[in-house]
Amino acid sequence: MKGWGVSSSAYQIEGGWDADGKGPSIWDVFTQTPGNTPADATGDVACDSYNRLDEDLYMLRALRVKSYRFSLSWSRIFPDGTRSSMNQKGVDYYNRLINGLLANKITPMVTIYHWDLPQALQDRGGWENVDMIDIFNDYCDFCFATFGDRVKLWMTINQPHSIAWLGYGLGTIPPSIKNPGISPYIVAHNLIKAHAKAYHTYDDKYRTSQGGLVSIALNADWIEPKDVNVLREVRAADRALQFQLGWFAHPIFKNGDYPDAMKWQVGNKSELQDLSESRLPSFTEEEKNYIKGTADMFCINHYTTKIASHVTGQLSPYSYEQDRDLSETEESDSPTTDIKNQRAVAWGLRRLLNWIKEEYGNPQIYIAENGVATKSSTMWDDSTRVFYYKTYIDEALKAYELDGVRVNGYIATSLMDSFEWLNGYKVGFGLHHVDFSNTNRPRTPKYSAHFYYYVIKDNEWHLRARAC
Ligand code: NOJ
Repeated sequence: MKGWGVSSSAYQIEGGWDADGKGPSIWDVFTQTPGNTPADATGDVACDSYNRLDEDLYMLRALRVKSYRFSLSWSRIFPDGTRSSMNQKGVDYYNRLINGLLANKITPMVTIYHWDLPQALQDRGGWENVDMIDIFNDYCDFCFATFGDRVKLWMTINQPHSIAWLGYGLGTIPPSIKNPGISPYIVAHNLIKAHAKAYHTYDDKYRTSQGGLVSIALNADWIEPKDVNVLREVRAADRALQFQLGWFAHPIFKNGDYPDAMKWQVGNKSELQDLSESRLPSFTEEEKNYIKGTADMFCINHYTTKIASHVTGQLSPYSYEQDRDLSETEESDSPTTDIKNQRAVAWGLRRLLNWIKEEYGNPQIYIAENGVATKSSTMWDDSTRVFYYKTYIDEALKAYELDGVRVNGYIATSLMDSFEWLNGYKVGFGLHHVDFSNTNRPRTPKYSAHFYYYVIKDNEWHLRARAC
């Protein structure tokens, strides 16, 4: 990735939920069931990007971004999740998008799977089913073979932590499974193996001819200890980071295995719960070697900072959250935003970047998502977003310039207001406003789009990066 970009994801923008042979995803089924989202919002039409590709390209061109991060809708390409159902019209859409980006000298950065699992695969047990490892690998193999002549930056999975914990632990997002002490660990285990397998497929079959990079987009808040002078609070904050980011990053970027803190915590709790083995599954030596090193860069999605303190977790019911022995609160000195629990705490980004540098041996880092919500009625004056970007980008630059963190790129989230998952269309992260009451879905740049245009134009960061 070269420098500055913006992002979106398929279900949030495309619409065309059943157009031209697309199969339903778990998000289609979830949102089409009344009562699950504010005002029963769905992604049926969303920004209608499936029919308005040129308008999206126009916005990207006008912003002069160097890269565009978007995701592929799995069930648009494989309506039932598997290759035998391949839908050429879906493939054509992404070919048009990729070709349009390249024609405008914008680097495509592709997320292969951003939460919208084909419903047909959920019917087979979703990520709790180990068969998903091979099924996902075959889907990735198809994507590499089909788009890899032009796509050189891949992210296999977006925010596996959210899939495992929100999807199978808390059950707040589809597939809405509430099994907080068991399923998230099984799901994460399968997601990590699925990612590793896809990485090896790229290595074995495509890397020599295509020469791209493959990674996974992990999410992390920065976690600050409640009191830096109290050892157990410092340890609690570090545990929080290990349970969120380390859960996936430790196996992939360090040694193929879960962080010690997780193995110890979950093992200990499981023992106290009289279980014969830990609820945290283990990898064989062979699996560890297979998983270790399966990412060419470190992609991080970051939005906010939390404060952690030590609290002894309960034994019943079994829960990933309780396994951590800590509690998290908001950073109360920082400004609130239009999403609950997401305060704008710019200094947290610099600390997180430094933590990643130290913990994972100074990898190349891409800030793959960063941004803030405002009410989607905001048409122009999103000064809070401008303030957020100014301060967060400044902290990223400090990490880069002063601390020697190898920050390679920055992706603002998002290109335009879109379907914001459990918040429906109440808030948006967009640099552009979208009028969802108008069938033409007109897009209008906000103040932040102008601001970001000038950040890119001045391009100081990128020029200096090239000089190094
Ligand atoms: C992370 C998700 O990857 C993205 O899809 C979403 O828009 C942002 N969080 C903001 O909630």
